[in-house]
Amino acid sequence: IRKIGLLTSGGDAPGMNAAIRAVVRACAYHGLTAVGIEQGYQGLIDNQMYEMGARDVKNIIHRGGTILKTVRCKGFYEAAGRAQAYQYFVQNQLDALVVIGGDGTFTGAMLFAEEFGVPIVGLPGTIDNDIFGTDTTIGYDTALNTVVDAIDKIRDTATSHNRLFFVEVMGRDSGFLALNGGIGAGAQDILIPEEHFDLNKLFASLDRGYQAGKSSSIIVVAEGEEGGVYEIAKRVREHYPNYDLRVTVLGHLQRGGAPSCADRVLASRLGVAAVEGLLAGQSAVMAGMRDGRIVFVPFSDAVKKEHVIDNELIRISDILAI
Ligand code: F6P
Repeated sequence: IRKIGLLTSGGDAPGMNAAIRAVVRACAYHGLTAVGIEQGYQGLIDNQMYEMGARDVKNIIHRGGTILKTVRCKGFYEAAGRAQAYQYFVQNQLDALVVIGGDGTFTGAMLFAEEFGVPIVGLPGTIDNDIFGTDTTIGYDTALNTVVDAIDKIRDTATSHNRLFFVEVMGRDSGFLALNGGIGAGAQDILIPEEHFDLNKLFASLDRGYQAGKSSSIIVVAEGEEGGVYEIAKRVREHYPNYDLRVTVLGHLQRGGAPSCADRVLASRLGVAAVEGLLAGQSAVMAGMRDGRIVFVPFSDAVKKEHVIDNELIRISDILAI
Protein backbone atom coordinates (compact mmCIF):
# COMPACT_ATOMS: atom_id res chain seq x y z
CA ILE A 1 0.00 0.00 0.00
CA ARG A 2 1.47 3.33 -1.10
CA LYS A 3 -1.43 5.65 -1.74
CA ILE A 4 -4.51 6.01 0.50
CA GLY A 5 -7.65 7.94 -0.41
CA LEU A 6 -9.74 9.38 2.38
CA LEU A 7 -13.20 10.85 2.53
CA THR A 8 -15.91 11.96 4.93
CA SER A 9 -19.48 10.94 4.19
CA GLY A 10 -22.99 11.22 5.65
CA GLY A 11 -23.85 13.80 8.30
CA ASP A 12 -20.83 15.79 9.43
CA ALA A 13 -19.62 15.42 13.00
CA PRO A 14 -17.24 17.48 15.14
CA GLY A 15 -13.87 15.73 15.13
CA MET A 16 -13.97 14.70 11.48
CA ASN A 17 -11.25 17.27 10.77
CA ALA A 18 -9.13 15.86 13.57
CA ALA A 19 -9.57 12.41 11.97
CA ILE A 20 -8.59 13.75 8.53
CA ARG A 21 -5.50 15.33 10.07
CA ALA A 22 -4.57 12.08 11.81
CA VAL A 23 -4.96 9.99 8.64
CA VAL A 24 -2.96 12.43 6.51
CA ARG A 25 -0.18 12.76 9.07
CA ALA A 26 -0.01 9.02 9.75
CA CYS A 27 0.37 8.54 5.99
CA ALA A 28 3.19 11.11 5.90
CA TYR A 29 4.84 9.44 8.89
CA HIS A 30 4.79 6.04 7.20
CA GLY A 31 5.96 7.38 3.85
CA LEU A 32 2.58 6.98 2.14
CA THR A 33 0.72 9.43 -0.07
CA ALA A 34 -2.65 10.64 1.20
CA VAL A 35 -5.32 11.73 -1.25
CA GLY A 36 -8.29 13.73 0.00
CA ILE A 37 -11.54 12.94 -1.80
CA GLU A 38 -14.10 15.77 -1.68
CA GLN A 39 -17.85 15.45 -1.07
CA GLY A 40 -17.79 11.87 0.19
CA TYR A 41 -18.34 9.10 -2.35
CA GLN A 42 -19.57 11.71 -4.83
CA GLY A 43 -15.97 12.91 -5.18
CA LEU A 44 -14.88 9.39 -6.06
CA ILE A 45 -17.59 9.18 -8.72
CA ASP A 46 -16.71 12.66 -10.07
CA ASN A 47 -12.93 12.36 -9.70
CA GLN A 48 -12.64 15.26 -7.25
CA MET A 49 -9.50 14.53 -5.28
CA TYR A 50 -6.11 15.99 -4.45
CA GLU A 51 -2.95 14.92 -2.66
CA MET A 52 -2.63 16.07 0.94
CA GLY A 53 0.61 16.52 2.84
CA ALA A 54 1.16 16.97 6.56
CA ARG A 55 1.01 20.78 6.28
CA ASP A 56 -2.30 20.70 4.40
CA VAL A 57 -4.02 19.67 7.60
CA LYS A 58 -2.55 22.34 9.87
CA ASN A 59 -4.94 24.36 12.03
CA ILE A 60 -7.91 22.08 11.58
CA ILE A 61 -7.83 19.90 14.70
CA HIS A 62 -10.06 22.39 16.53
CA ARG A 63 -12.54 23.05 13.73
CA GLY A 64 -16.01 21.53 13.42
CA GLY A 65 -17.38 20.25 10.11
CA THR A 66 -15.14 18.63 7.54
CA ILE A 67 -12.68 20.36 5.20
CA LEU A 68 -13.28 17.57 2.68
CA LYS A 69 -17.03 18.33 2.68
CA THR A 70 -19.58 15.58 2.90
CA VAL A 71 -22.56 14.28 0.98
CA ARG A 72 -25.14 11.55 1.48
CA CYS A 73 -24.35 10.09 -1.94
CA LYS A 74 -27.24 8.27 -3.61
CA GLY A 75 -25.12 7.38 -6.67
CA PHE A 76 -22.90 5.13 -4.59
CA TYR A 77 -25.89 2.96 -3.68
CA GLU A 78 -26.07 2.02 -7.38
CA ALA A 79 -23.71 -0.57 -8.87
CA ALA A 80 -23.05 1.80 -11.80
CA GLY A 81 -21.97 4.58 -9.42
CA ARG A 82 -19.58 2.27 -7.62
CA ALA A 83 -18.15 1.02 -10.94
CA GLN A 84 -17.48 4.63 -11.97
CA ALA A 85 -15.88 5.29 -8.60
CA TYR A 86 -13.65 2.25 -9.04
CA GLN A 87 -12.45 3.54 -12.43
CA TYR A 88 -11.21 6.76 -10.81
CA PHE A 89 -9.82 4.77 -7.87
CA VAL A 90 -7.63 2.87 -10.35
CA GLN A 91 -6.87 5.91 -12.53
CA ASN A 92 -5.58 7.81 -9.48
CA GLN A 93 -3.48 4.79 -8.50
CA LEU A 94 -5.09 4.53 -5.10
CA ASP A 95 -4.38 1.35 -3.15
CA ALA A 96 -6.82 1.71 -0.25
CA LEU A 97 -9.46 3.94 1.31
CA VAL A 98 -10.21 5.38 4.72
CA VAL A 99 -13.87 6.39 5.01
CA ILE A 100 -15.15 8.47 7.91
CA GLY A 101 -18.89 8.36 8.57
CA GLY A 102 -21.75 6.30 9.92
CA ASP A 103 -23.99 3.41 8.92
CA GLY A 104 -24.62 4.45 5.31
CA THR A 105 -20.93 5.16 4.78
CA PHE A 106 -19.95 1.70 6.00
CA THR A 107 -22.66 -0.01 3.95
CA GLY A 108 -21.27 1.62 0.80
CA ALA A 109 -17.72 0.74 1.81
CA MET A 110 -18.67 -2.87 2.45
CA LEU A 111 -20.13 -3.23 -1.05
CA PHE A 112 -17.17 -1.48 -2.66
CA ALA A 113 -14.70 -3.70 -0.81
CA GLU A 114 -16.64 -6.84 -1.77
CA GLU A 115 -17.08 -5.94 -5.42
CA PHE A 116 -13.59 -4.69 -6.21
CA GLY A 117 -11.39 -6.15 -3.47
CA VAL A 118 -10.41 -2.66 -2.33
CA PRO A 119 -8.87 -2.52 1.17
CA ILE A 120 -10.97 -0.13 3.24
CA VAL A 121 -10.93 0.88 6.89
CA GLY A 122 -13.83 2.95 8.25
CA LEU A 123 -13.80 5.40 11.14
CA PRO A 124 -17.05 5.91 13.07
CA GLY A 125 -17.96 9.58 12.65
CA THR A 126 -21.49 10.53 13.68
CA ILE A 127 -23.04 12.46 16.53
CA ASP A 128 -25.64 9.70 16.95
CA ASN A 129 -23.30 7.09 18.52
CA ASP A 130 -25.43 4.43 16.87
CA ILE A 131 -22.60 2.26 15.56
CA PHE A 132 -22.02 -1.22 16.92
CA GLY A 133 -18.49 -2.17 17.92
CA THR A 134 -17.18 1.09 19.35
CA ASP A 135 -17.96 2.59 22.74
CA THR A 136 -18.35 6.03 21.20
CA THR A 137 -18.24 7.60 17.78
CA ILE A 138 -16.30 10.70 16.71
CA GLY A 139 -18.56 13.71 17.32
CA TYR A 140 -20.81 12.17 19.94
CA ASP A 141 -19.09 13.65 22.99
CA THR A 142 -19.09 17.14 21.48
CA ALA A 143 -22.76 16.91 20.51
CA LEU A 144 -23.62 15.65 23.98
CA ASN A 145 -21.95 18.64 25.56
CA THR A 146 -23.76 20.94 23.13
CA VAL A 147 -27.07 19.35 24.13
CA VAL A 148 -26.37 19.77 27.85
CA ASP A 149 -25.23 23.35 27.36
CA ALA A 150 -28.39 24.16 25.39
CA ILE A 151 -30.70 22.54 27.94
CA ASP A 152 -28.94 24.37 30.78
CA LYS A 153 -29.89 27.61 29.03
CA ILE A 154 -33.45 26.46 28.47
CA ARG A 155 -33.63 25.58 32.14
CA ASP A 156 -32.89 29.20 33.09
CA THR A 157 -35.90 30.48 31.20
CA ALA A 158 -38.07 27.47 32.12
CA THR A 159 -37.43 28.13 35.81
CA SER A 160 -38.03 31.87 35.52
CA HIS A 161 -41.42 31.35 33.86
CA ASN A 162 -42.48 28.16 35.66
CA ARG A 163 -42.73 26.43 32.31
CA LEU A 164 -42.71 22.90 31.01
CA PHE A 165 -40.29 22.49 28.11
CA PHE A 166 -40.12 19.72 25.57
CA VAL A 167 -36.65 19.65 24.01
CA GLU A 168 -36.06 17.57 20.92
CA VAL A 169 -32.53 16.33 20.39
CA MET A 170 -31.05 14.60 17.34
CA GLY A 171 -30.26 10.93 16.97
CA ARG A 172 -32.29 9.68 14.03
CA ASP A 173 -33.43 6.27 15.34
CA SER A 174 -31.33 6.12 18.45
CA GLY A 175 -31.58 7.62 21.91
CA PHE A 176 -27.94 7.96 22.99
CA LEU A 177 -27.86 11.75 22.79
CA ALA A 178 -31.27 12.08 24.41
CA LEU A 179 -30.64 9.67 27.26
CA ASN A 180 -27.16 10.82 28.23
CA GLY A 181 -27.89 14.47 27.47
CA GLY A 182 -31.11 14.24 29.49
CA ILE A 183 -29.34 12.74 32.49
CA GLY A 184 -26.56 15.31 32.21
CA ALA A 185 -29.04 18.16 32.07
CA GLY A 186 -31.28 16.80 34.84
CA ALA A 187 -34.41 16.14 32.76
CA GLN A 188 -37.70 15.19 34.41
CA ASP A 189 -38.29 12.57 31.73
CA ILE A 190 -36.51 11.28 28.64
CA LEU A 191 -38.34 9.76 25.70
CA ILE A 192 -36.25 7.56 23.42
CA PRO A 193 -37.18 5.30 20.49
CA GLU A 194 -35.63 2.26 22.20
CA GLU A 195 -38.35 2.38 24.87
CA HIS A 196 -42.02 1.87 24.13
CA PHE A 197 -43.74 5.29 24.27
CA ASP A 198 -46.43 5.40 26.93
CA LEU A 199 -48.36 8.65 27.28
CA ASN A 200 -49.79 7.62 30.65
CA LYS A 201 -46.29 7.00 31.98
CA LEU A 202 -45.38 10.53 30.90
CA PHE A 203 -48.49 11.94 32.62
CA ALA A 204 -47.58 10.01 35.78
CA SER A 205 -44.06 11.45 35.67
CA LEU A 206 -45.43 15.00 35.25
CA ASP A 207 -47.87 14.42 38.11
CA ARG A 208 -45.07 13.21 40.34
CA GLY A 209 -43.05 16.29 39.47
CA TYR A 210 -45.97 18.56 40.26
CA GLN A 211 -46.69 16.81 43.57
CA ALA A 212 -43.03 17.06 44.49
CA GLY A 213 -43.34 20.83 44.13
CA LYS A 214 -41.51 21.25 40.83
CA SER A 215 -42.61 24.43 39.13
CA SER A 216 -40.79 23.81 35.87
CA SER A 217 -39.61 20.72 34.06
CA ILE A 218 -37.61 19.63 31.06
CA ILE A 219 -38.70 16.63 29.01
CA VAL A 220 -36.07 15.47 26.52
CA VAL A 221 -37.47 13.83 23.40
CA ALA A 222 -35.30 11.94 20.93
CA GLU A 223 -35.89 12.94 17.34
CA GLY A 224 -36.86 9.39 16.37
CA GLU A 225 -39.55 9.16 19.07
CA GLU A 226 -42.90 7.94 17.85
CA GLY A 227 -45.24 10.80 16.93
CA GLY A 228 -42.57 13.47 17.15
CA VAL A 229 -42.12 16.19 19.76
CA TYR A 230 -44.93 18.49 18.54
CA GLU A 231 -47.53 15.72 18.62
CA ILE A 232 -46.43 14.62 22.09
CA ALA A 233 -46.53 18.22 23.34
CA LYS A 234 -50.00 18.65 21.84
CA ARG A 235 -51.33 15.65 23.71
CA VAL A 236 -49.79 16.86 26.95
CA ARG A 237 -51.30 20.31 26.41
CA GLU A 238 -54.73 18.75 25.93
CA HIS A 239 -54.35 16.83 29.18
CA TYR A 240 -52.92 19.76 31.17
CA PRO A 241 -54.53 22.90 29.70
CA ASN A 242 -53.13 25.01 32.55
CA TYR A 243 -49.50 24.14 31.92
CA ASP A 244 -47.40 26.81 30.26
CA LEU A 245 -45.70 24.59 27.72
CA ARG A 246 -43.03 25.27 25.09
CA VAL A 247 -41.20 23.16 22.52
CA THR A 248 -37.59 23.67 21.45
CA VAL A 249 -36.00 21.67 18.65
CA LEU A 250 -32.22 21.86 19.02
CA GLY A 251 -31.65 20.76 15.42
CA HIS A 252 -28.44 21.19 13.51
CA LEU A 253 -26.67 23.31 16.08
CA GLN A 254 -25.91 19.91 17.63
CA ARG A 255 -23.74 19.02 14.63
CA GLY A 256 -21.49 22.08 14.72
CA GLY A 257 -18.84 23.59 16.91
CA ALA A 258 -15.31 22.88 17.99
CA PRO A 259 -14.77 19.22 18.87
CA SER A 260 -14.28 18.37 22.54
CA CYS A 261 -10.89 17.12 23.67
CA ALA A 262 -12.31 13.58 23.97
CA ASP A 263 -13.42 13.67 20.33
CA ARG A 264 -10.07 15.07 19.17
CA VAL A 265 -8.16 12.34 20.97
CA LEU A 266 -10.53 9.62 19.73
CA ALA A 267 -10.27 10.90 16.14
CA SER A 268 -6.49 11.12 16.41
CA ARG A 269 -6.13 7.58 17.73
CA LEU A 270 -8.56 6.08 15.23
CA GLY A 271 -7.00 7.97 12.31
CA VAL A 272 -3.57 6.52 13.05
CA ALA A 273 -5.12 3.08 13.65
CA ALA A 274 -6.82 3.18 10.23
CA VAL A 275 -3.56 3.78 8.37
CA GLU A 276 -1.58 1.29 10.43
CA GLY A 277 -4.45 -1.21 10.16
CA LEU A 278 -4.35 -0.98 6.36
CA LEU A 279 -0.57 -1.46 6.40
CA ALA A 280 -1.08 -4.55 8.56
CA GLY A 281 -3.58 -6.01 6.08
CA GLN A 282 -6.90 -5.00 7.64
CA SER A 283 -9.81 -4.54 5.26
CA ALA A 284 -13.58 -4.14 5.27
CA VAL A 285 -13.41 -3.22 8.93
CA MET A 286 -14.18 -0.27 11.14
CA ALA A 287 -11.50 0.92 13.56
CA GLY A 288 -13.25 1.51 16.86
CA MET A 289 -12.44 2.01 20.50
CA ARG A 290 -13.57 -0.41 23.19
CA ASP A 291 -12.54 -0.07 26.83
CA GLY A 292 -9.75 2.27 25.81
CA ARG A 293 -8.29 -0.11 23.23
CA ILE A 294 -8.36 -0.02 19.43
CA VAL A 295 -10.49 -2.76 17.87
CA PHE A 296 -11.16 -3.69 14.25
CA VAL A 297 -14.79 -4.66 13.67
CA PRO A 298 -16.02 -6.13 10.36
CA PHE A 299 -18.27 -3.69 8.47
CA SER A 300 -20.92 -6.41 8.38
CA ASP A 301 -21.13 -6.31 12.20
CA ALA A 302 -20.83 -2.53 12.48
CA VAL A 303 -23.79 -1.95 10.16
CA LYS A 304 -26.04 -4.86 11.07
CA LYS A 305 -25.69 -5.18 14.82
CA GLU A 306 -27.29 -2.68 17.12
CA HIS A 307 -25.39 -0.46 19.52
CA VAL A 308 -27.62 -1.13 22.49
CA ILE A 309 -28.60 1.52 25.02
CA ASP A 310 -27.65 0.69 28.60
CA ASN A 311 -30.88 0.05 30.50
CA GLU A 312 -29.15 1.04 33.71
CA LEU A 313 -29.10 4.62 32.43
CA ILE A 314 -32.87 4.56 31.98
CA ARG A 315 -33.24 3.35 35.56
CA ILE A 316 -30.93 6.06 36.84
CA SER A 317 -32.79 8.82 35.03
CA ASP A 318 -36.07 7.57 36.58
CA ILE A 319 -34.59 7.52 40.07
CA LEU A 320 -33.15 11.01 39.79
CA ALA A 321 -36.41 12.53 38.56
CA ILE A 322 -38.01 11.96 41.96
O1 F6P B 1 -26.83 11.16 11.57
C1 F6P B 1 -26.65 12.42 12.08
C2 F6P B 1 -27.92 13.23 12.05
O2 F6P B 1 -27.65 14.52 12.57
C3 F6P B 1 -29.11 12.60 12.73
O3 F6P B 1 -29.07 12.77 14.12
C4 F6P B 1 -30.25 13.30 12.06
O4 F6P B 1 -31.41 12.50 12.08
C5 F6P B 1 -29.76 13.47 10.66
O5 F6P B 1 -28.35 13.41 10.71
C6 F6P B 1 -30.19 14.74 9.99
O6 F6P B 1 -29.75 14.70 8.68
P1 F6P B 1 -29.69 15.96 7.71
O7 F6P B 1 -28.55 16.83 8.15
O8 F6P B 1 -29.44 15.36 6.37
O9 F6P B 1 -30.99 16.67 7.83
